[in-house]
This record gives sequence, C-alpha cells and structure tokens, in this order.
Amino acid sequence: MPITTCVFDAYGTLFDVTAAAREVAAEPGFEDLGDQWPKLASDWRLKQLQYSWLRAITDEHTDFWEVTENALEWALQASGLLDDKKLRERLLQLYWELSAYEEVPNMLRKLKARGLNTAILSNGSPAMLQGAVDSAHIGGLLDDILSVEAVGIFKPDRRVYELVTKRFSCAPDEVLFVSSNGWDAAGASGFGFQTAWVNRASEPVDRLPHIPHHELSDLTTIPNLTAPT
Ligand code: LAC
Repeated sequence: MPITTCVFDAYGTLFDVTAAAREVAAEPGFEDLGDQWPKLASDWRLKQLQYSWLRAITDEHTDFWEVTENALEWALQASGLLDDKKLRERLLQLYWELSAYEEVPNMLRKLKARGLNTAILSNGSPAMLQGAVDSAHIGGLLDDILSVEAVGIFKPDRRVYELVTKRFSCAPDEVLFVSSNGWDAAGASGFGFQTAWVNRASEPVDRLPHIPHHELSDLTTIPNLTAPT
C-alpha cells in the first residue's frame, strides 16, 4: 500500500533530548555540571526509558513527566549532583523547550506538500508534547499530536500504535513510522507499520523479534520513503 500517513516519535527523533543538559552546561552558575553533561544526559535518557518499560510491564502507569523527573533524580545522584536543586529545576524547565533537529521543519513541509497526514506518536504527556511543539514552531506542520495518555500505557504496547490507525482510519501498512529508538521502530514493525529507524549514533540494530524496514542517519530523506514505488 502507498504511504498516506507519516508518524514520528518525539523525544530523540524530532527533539534533541541531549539539548537540555548540553545547554545548561554552557550557562553561568552551572559549572559543577561542566564536562559531566554527556553522562548525565545519557543516564537520564536510559533511566527514563527503563522506567517507562518497567511501569508498562508491572501495570503501574504514571505519566511521562513523572517518569522523566524520577529518571533525572537517579541521574543527578549518579553524578553526585543530587543536592543541586537549581540545576534540577533548570534541566526540567529546558525539557519543555527542547530544540528540534535542524532538518525537521523542511522535512515536514515536504510531507505536507505531498498531501500526507503527519503526526507525533509519543510517550510524552499531552502538555509536554505541546510545549516542545510550540517551542519548535512546528504545530502548523502536524495534523495531530498523539500521546500514550489516551491509552494509559507506554510503547511498545500495541494499543499505542493502534492510536494512529484509529485516528487516521488507515491500515497499518499505509503508515510510515519514524523513530530514533530502535526498539520503538521494531515494535512498530511488529504492529505492521512501515518503519524507519533514525540511527544518528550508528548503533547496532536491536536484537528483537522485528526489525526496522529502513535505517537512516537523519530525517532529511524521509519524504523519499513516502513516494509511491
Ligand atoms: C517518545 C520516546 C520513546 O517520544 O522517545 O515516545
């Protein structure tokens, strides 16, 4: 089936999740973070994902904002920075205003020019996602922002991917799902979407039951994948 709908993961895919720690490290007053910021950013992200999976497995859902706060607390403690309340508040504040990767607006414009549906499908809470979309000024290029809060469980549960086929009344193989998270692209392949994994860090592919259909180094060539063959 030709692709009619292009759906994006948010954090790490459209929005640069390392931006918060990197930007704070360059601000006056946060010298303690200094060159520790890459470890803090990586611990924060890893714990955030682990907690989302664990809460899904144990059926103890809470929203992604709480998971993000819990993960940051762990990461700050691991770097000996737990007592720096100012740093904690600043990092959390910046998470609402993450930068979008520079190719995002043009790429979305091309998809809209081709008449495709465009949307975000994310673990993020509706308020977090709206904050990031507004600060990146890409709201006008998206038909919808779909949050897992509509089903109360995190990715890669099938009910999350089903939000897309319900919203756009389409078959799974009409959807191109794009994620920088290999496990998310794999889960979406298992659901029946066409998938593209944006592998900016050249990581090995996840050994899971399904694999992404395409592997890209950034988002620039996404519109080419939606052209009829
Ligand atoms: C999201 C996380 C998984 O936006 O990056 O859903």
